[in-house]
Amino acid sequence: MYVCLCKGITDNQIKDAVCGGATTLRKVRNQLGAMSQCGKCAMLTKEIVEDTLAQQ
Ligand code: FES
Repeated sequence: MYVCLCKGITDNQIKDAVCGGATTLRKVRNQLGAMSQCGKCAMLTKEIVEDTLAQQ
């Protein structure tokens, strides 16, 4: 599903980025561009990052 509509970023893209080493919100933003415009996706992105890290 789409998480960041501004950049067209899905939950799977965020999970892949976290598994690839983007282990903080800042790294996810730098790598994918999520949260770089309106910022409305920040809460959901944070949850996905935390959930993915918890599953590792
Ligand atoms: Fe992600 Fe707007 S929805 S920056």
